[in-house]
Amino acid sequence: MDKIVIEGGRPLEGTVKVSGAKNAVLPILAATLLTRGRNIIEGVPNVRDVKTMIRLLQDLGAEVASYEDEKIILDTSSANNPEAPYDLVSTMRASCLVLGPLLAKLGRARVSLPGGCAIGARPIDFHIKGLEAMGAKIWLDHGYVHGTADCLKGIQFYFDTVSVTGTANLMMAACLAEGETVLENAAKEPEVVFLADVLSQAGAKIKGQGTDMITIQGVASLQPIECRIFPDRIEAGTYMIAAAITRGDVLVENCIPQHLEPVILKLQEAQVDVDVKETSIRVQGRRPLLAVNAKTNPYPAFPTDIQAQFMALMTLARGQSIIMETVFENRFMHVAELKRMGADITLDGHTAVINGIEGLSGAPLMATDLRASASLVLAALAAKGQSVISRVYHIDRGYVGMEKKLSSLGARIQRLAN
Ligand code: UD1
Repeated sequence: MDKIVIEGGRPLEGTVKVSGAKNAVLPILAATLLTRGRNIIEGVPNVRDVKTMIRLLQDLGAEVASYEDEKIILDTSSANNPEAPYDLVSTMRASCLVLGPLLAKLGRARVSLPGGCAIGARPIDFHIKGLEAMGAKIWLDHGYVHGTADCLKGIQFYFDTVSVTGTANLMMAACLAEGETVLENAAKEPEVVFLADVLSQAGAKIKGQGTDMITIQGVASLQPIECRIFPDRIEAGTYMIAAAITRGDVLVENCIPQHLEPVILKLQEAQVDVDVKETSIRVQGRRPLLAVNAKTNPYPAFPTDIQAQFMALMTLARGQSIIMETVFENRFMHVAELKRMGADITLDGHTAVINGIEGLSGAPLMATDLRASASLVLAALAAKGQSVISRVYHIDRGYVGMEKKLSSLGARIQRLAN
């Protein structure tokens, strides 16, 4: 397994370009199963989760007509296999996104129960409850979710907790269901809004995306999808924090500042200089870092996917910060590793109390999930001495060429292939 070696302590400087959003392209790829024909998607980030989803679609009968320069043409004319096998689904939780489209289009699905990041139980009960309410018969057997449906029917569904992929899954299924579906307490994440917009362009009738009530009028069929994926807000946020934690000066290009508002505001509160332009953000870490509190919540609040990276930053801030994780129950896997670098962090349930210290020291580290791994990279960039991060395949799931982008900013970072 590859390792990343980082010699820390060097301020990052220069310009970094953000790639397309992983969490936007995954549901769009799944949505191609609702169509028959050539789907054209541009700005596709070359990360492992995307490769996994493409392989899964190929397994389901879709054909990759071409795939170069971040543009994929996916032909779904023969996507008639309803079975998503364990070996693909187990590596990526978002594979469960094919469940709704398969049931809506083929009336059958056999999808392995997902794996993914080890950040909590992460059930898919809302997905299943919603599809059952739409008239699908669903049962679990040998680790697979089986489903059949003669014809899905529109429903009124309330999410007990805001769920991003849950909203996406039911919205996709509802596009081809009979009648009207109303999703209440729906996710408002930009990735959900984008999916709704792209489906609408393909002929779906969707209203209310971006609010907590989405209404979908079922239609008989959809045209193939054509879209360009927007920039990844979590990747952008990660590089913004990289600039701040190394006391550097970085221009993060190709981003949508509006998607990053809570991150920008929290950085500014911590005395990081953030200069926001239309499609870029300059981050400078010149003044002493101040400890600030943060609490994760669904969009538009502070994203859980930035919590680990922000905590790395707070380990070096003046004073005490309190970070509360309210979205996932087990998303503090990075804490033990940060402590091994000298960080002063105490955990109490969903809350981490961080007392800022003068400096972190490099250490051998273990990446445990996607965003926890990013936080270790950031901490290692700021730390004195060498850090060796193992299990970096987690990073490859969601970041395009992270070590290349960081070394172009002057980081001393190297991948050791094993
Ligand atoms: C998505 C993102 C992930 C992000 C998360 C929260 C993708 C591919 N992944 O994950 O990067 O961290 O949103 O912003 O877009 N829940 C249930 N039952 C369900 C579904 C969810 O109880 O059926 C709970 C989860 O355990 C969690 C909360 O709801 O506590 C939110 O999860 P959800 O929004 O569904 O996360 P994902 O869509 O998996």
